[in-house]
Amino acid sequence: MRYVALVLCLISVSECARILGIFHLPGKSHYAAGNTMMKILAERGHDVTLISPFKEKNPPKNFRDVVLTPEAPKEKFDFFNFNVHPLLQSYIYSVQTSPILNATLSHPEFKRFLESKQKFDLVLMEYFFSDALKYLGVYFNAPVIVYSALDANSWINPSVANPMPVSYVQDLLASSDVLSFPSRLERTFMYVCNSLIRNFLYLPIQDKLVKEHFPGAPDIDEYFNNAALMLLNADVSVNAPIPKVPAMVDIGGFHIKPTKPLPKDLQDVLDKAVNGVVYFSMGSNLQSAQMPKKTLAALLAAFSKLKETVLWKWEEDNLPGKPDNVIIRKWLPQNDVFAHKNVKLFITHGGIFSTMEAVYHGIPCLAFPIFGDQVLNAQRASETGYARWMKFHEITEEKVLSEIDEILNNPKYSENVKARSRIMLDKPISPADRLVFWVEYVIRHKGADHLRVAGLELTWYQYLLVDVIFFVAICSVMFVLFVKYVLCYLFSICRKSNSKLKTQ
Ligand SMILES: *[C@@H]1O[C@H](CO)[C@@H](O)[C@H](O)[C@H]1NC(C)=O
Repeated sequence: MRYVALVLCLISVSECARILGIFHLPGKSHYAAGNTMMKILAERGHDVTLISPFKEKNPPKNFRDVVLTPEAPKEKFDFFNFNVHPLLQSYIYSVQTSPILNATLSHPEFKRFLESKQKFDLVLMEYFFSDALKYLGVYFNAPVIVYSALDANSWINPSVANPMPVSYVQDLLASSDVLSFPSRLERTFMYVCNSLIRNFLYLPIQDKLVKEHFPGAPDIDEYFNNAALMLLNADVSVNAPIPKVPAMVDIGGFHIKPTKPLPKDLQDVLDKAVNGVVYFSMGSNLQSAQMPKKTLAALLAAFSKLKETVLWKWEEDNLPGKPDNVIIRKWLPQNDVFAHKNVKLFITHGGIFSTMEAVYHGIPCLAFPIFGDQVLNAQRASETGYARWMKFHEITEEKVLSEIDEILNNPKYSENVKARSRIMLDKPISPADRLVFWVEYVIRHKGADHLRVAGLELTWYQYLLVDVIFFVAICSVMFVLFVKYVLCYLFSICRKSNSKLKTQ
């Protein structure tokens, strides 16, 4: 058996490949995704190195990390009061996040890592307005796989020439019902503005960053399209079905691990909650303890009127004014909590990882989205019929109570989410296996040039057929002018011959 494994390892290049992962964002959920992916790959025998701002406490075999400890931010970002127009959000994400990338590329640990002159068979990077990182593919002379925590969208589509018919594909940040005229108008506007921001503000910064840190690097156009594959954290059970080129692969749900037994104290709390449990968490990046006082008071008042037990991920020791039916914990094993039969409702910020876990376990949701894709996720969940939502800053005691009452007492939410759960589980292979297959596929084929669509070779006006439309328009005008000229000519001949006839 051992020899078979050895032979297999020798004949297949992708066995024991050296994989570099770079997940540069200082957000815990982004790190958790990268860490999970790299561990899955390490478990399959690959030799992985993960560059990120966090340290892995129990690294498995074949797993190394390069920790780029970030400088402490000067001021804490106030997410709860982040209520800005989608276009401004788009600008903020694409342009104002560049210092994060700059800090990554100039970090002494990163420089030390580069100087160690290691070799890699593949670079796996997270896309979050980070096209500059694609340069690492050039640097290491290795194929690049881009992972996106978000489904196909106007920011990642251009680099694989993925079509995005704005007539029905929702923008990540736009909000309103998909097919209406105002919504299509809004999306067209967003699409054009995003393209302008990308080409005239965002890409020049990325280009500058690379040239600053890698003197002699080529222009960004040379490697902007170099991703062999895009792994999307999306799944049809949760995301809208939209067109995707063959180089885009959904692996949504890869982060969901088999459930483990709960810690004893938590198991007791959940077992005793015979009236059901409402689980409340605003995710790993938002700290509930920072929420505005008014909203906090409204939530506490609403929860105190419930007969259900509320399990709240609250990151401080105390919660002043906490009603008896509210149990707080600084951290909770969310996926394992969801598996308990008494959990009836999930109150969430609408983050995609949380939404997927809730659907996986068939738990209906009440979402209080704040920014980014959260509104879109909440909206989609409500259209699909397994959630209700309101913007975070619209929270009042009455509204929250009536929404909770509706979800807990109308069986449709629970039925719909269970149907979605069955869709999520109905797959030939698990998302984690799919991730491994495609990573090894790209390594085996040294990239995946055969998946590249020809659209990548076109300029924007060729891609949008502007030249063809222009040509047809000019031909039509010329044809009309020609017909008019011929008719006039024939008409004048007729008139002449008519007048000749009359004079004869
Ligand atoms: C990156 O950071 C350095 C040092 O703070 C700064 O001089 C440089 O202008 C930054 N680069 C970009 C492209 O913002």
